[in-house]
Amino acid sequence: MTAPKRPRLVVLISGSGSNLQAFIDASQNSTLDAEIVGVVSNKAGVLGLERAKKAHIPCEILDHREFADRESFDAELGERVSSYQPDLVILAGFMRILTPKFVNRFAGHIMNIHPSLLPKYPGLHTHQRAIDAGDHAAGATVHFVTSDLDGGPAIIQAEVPITSGDTTDILASRILVQEHQIYPLAAQWFCEGRLTLNNGAPHLDGNALPETGFPFSTANTEQ
Ligand code: GAR
Repeated sequence: MTAPKRPRLVVLISGSGSNLQAFIDASQNSTLDAEIVGVVSNKAGVLGLERAKKAHIPCEILDHREFADRESFDAELGERVSSYQPDLVILAGFMRILTPKFVNRFAGHIMNIHPSLLPKYPGLHTHQRAIDAGDHAAGATVHFVTSDLDGGPAIIQAEVPITSGDTTDILASRILVQEHQIYPLAAQWFCEGRLTLNNGAPHLDGNALPETGFPFSTANTEQ
């Protein structure tokens, strides 16, 4: 009897890859029943690539600066990603806007994490924007990717407090602790078949998720 095939994940990164590390850890300790079959970075020399190498995950660099335009970069990226035959593509701090053509190629099989309480603060500088606005809370949202920047349907959202004296670095690290929990969890739901997209709306165990995603509780975390 052969073991059931584990879902195949490809992770796209641009930087330190702490979310990638959370996926590596989760797949090694079996909280994520999936195999990370490839990592692609658009930047050379980033820590995320070291993390992939240490975990013996095939990794490659595809430098966007070597392409004439976004379309040609995304076309090659799409080929590289497809070559791994992924069940799910994970954007983990991949700091490139993707063309609709790329997104449509993996529609329903591509997720992103964004460090804000979406729909608040899509785009860049989310932590500073939340502090500057005097918000009392910030957070992170895992969502399916559509061609709408940081606007795809939300899957899970975790909230953290903003306290007086918070700098962007302090707030970013507080949020990252949550990111590392909610992102592998969303992937696990997907891999188990519990998370589905019905007419573009995410459902968990057959129930439609709230607009801002499943509200992840911080009650049992170390924060
Ligand atoms: C994370 O905070 C992630 O939410 C954010 O980049 C960081 C990557 O950290 N992503 C975005 O801002 C995407 N819009 P990591 O490389 O340590 O995982």
